Amino acid sequence: MAAAAAAVGVAAVNGVRMGSKKGPKAPPEVPGLPLIGNLHQLNGTKPHKTFTKWSETYGPVYTTWLGASPAIVISSTEVVKEAMIDKYSSISTRKLTKAFQVVSRDKMMVSMSDYGDYHKKAKRLVMAALLGPAAQRQFLDTRKQMMDNMTSIFRASAIHDPHATQNFRKVFRAELFRLSMIQTFGEEVNSIYVPELGQEVSREELCEIMVVDTLITLAEVDWRDFFPYLSWLPNESFDTKVMTAEHRRTAVTRAIINQRKERIANGEARVCYLDFLLTAEDTLTEEELIMLSWESILGGTDTTLMTTEWAMYELAKNPEIQERLYQEIQEVCGDDTVTEEHLPQLPYLKAVFHETLRLHSPGPILPPRFIDEATTLGGYQVPAGAELIINIYGCNMDEKEWESPYSWRPERFLDESRFDDTYRPIAFGTGKRVCAGMSQATNISCTSIARFVQEFTWSLKKGDEDKVETAHFVGARLHPLDVYVSPRGGR
Ligand code: HEM
Repeated sequence: MAAAAAAVGVAAVNGVRMGSKKGPKAPPEVPGLPLIGNLHQLNGTKPHKTFTKWSETYGPVYTTWLGASPAIVISSTEVVKEAMIDKYSSISTRKLTKAFQVVSRDKMMVSMSDYGDYHKKAKRLVMAALLGPAAQRQFLDTRKQMMDNMTSIFRASAIHDPHATQNFRKVFRAELFRLSMIQTFGEEVNSIYVPELGQEVSREELCEIMVVDTLITLAEVDWRDFFPYLSWLPNESFDTKVMTAEHRRTAVTRAIINQRKERIANGEARVCYLDFLLTAEDTLTEEELIMLSWESILGGTDTTLMTTEWAMYELAKNPEIQERLYQEIQEVCGDDTVTEEHLPQLPYLKAVFHETLRLHSPGPILPPRFIDEATTLGGYQVPAGAELIINIYGCNMDEKEWESPYSWRPERFLDESRFDDTYRPIAFGTGKRVCAGMSQATNISCTSIARFVQEFTWSLKKGDEDKVETAHFVGARLHPLDVYVSPRGGR
């Protein structure tokens, strides 16, 4: 309370009161400094680790001060579910950093929008045309083609030079991007002339502009985010970086949409998200079309890549687990190539996937929300106006819930009770804002892992066993997986 009292002078600026004399207590506070609160203690690009350490001292719900703003941090699955399911109506407004505001065109994406009419309409559209079960069935052959392409590339490289390692990320990202482009725009788009940039842009450059550069931009921190009363001050280098990335992203997406419109006008409509948005829904603006179709490319690419890359790293590091998974696939599939239809019969594969999501969650912290009206969380009174930070990493490293949480042990997910309502892992979020792409991500990641293990043995370069650093604020591997891939006999 003492340090917060220092910061309470700041709290008064925002009109947020942290305590109440009657009723439930306010959450404990992490001591900090006047004005900056706890900002100086947050460890560079890994705040989730610091939040998790603090939860050992202050418990699953506590308050920190991020400059001028109080933030309630939750690091327990049970309290996250209370917030996201039971108390959702009090906690449903997104709190966006400056970079997110610019890149999301002020909440014009499904994932960044506030809960309301736009979110409901956009989520309904994306489920109907792209991510719901019926829509996903339409793209089954494209996903199968993706698996065939990747295994052919790995096999050809391994045959060409059996002693060379392979850059897993390069192969997997290119194929995921291709799939996302086909699902969204109905074609791969090998290159396109972009009038606003005055140049021809290749497929590789499109992936850089639409996915990689935007993710780097979203990780940019602007000190003005922590001191809203100073937001009128310029921060030129930040503004230039973010505006440039946003301009290039919008320019290429607009060019692809315009090209698609011409093709549709020529009678070349295809089964894809954009054609559905253009024909089934007449109330979207051009800006909304750009944002929704671009979101589908962004969402479809790197989260699935991060998870599958971590799974292949863990399997390459743990040959006995890789062998157990191979045996399970052999028993179920025999000589047949493993497909999505086999997934329900492969419990150990499901366990490998969920244990990877637990230990290496792509989003260790969810983008913050505001607490719209005073409520209680985990037995504490939390005030309206504070931010809510959901520390997924902290939930997954909670020793009360997971034995030896820092070890990768798929066996723990062979216990089916881990998947019931109470314990379902929360890497995909929960409640009304649960991940819309959960089924696509699960199908692609699990089928890829199964195909990779069915057709090859995987091993790490000597010395790579401990390369587990992550990049930026996300759970991506800092070092792309560089791995030995050897075709199994008879395949
Ligand atoms: C392993 C892969 C993935 C993980 C771990 C993941 C995780 C998440 C999480 C945690 C949320 C909730 C965020 C919050 O509540 O603040 C979310 C939302 C969302 N995800 Fe995913 N995601 C994955 C793959 C995908 C894919 C492949 C797509 C689309 C192609 C996608 C599209 C979305 C969308 C549209 C939302 C917003 C849902 C809403 O706000 O109602 N995700 N995801």
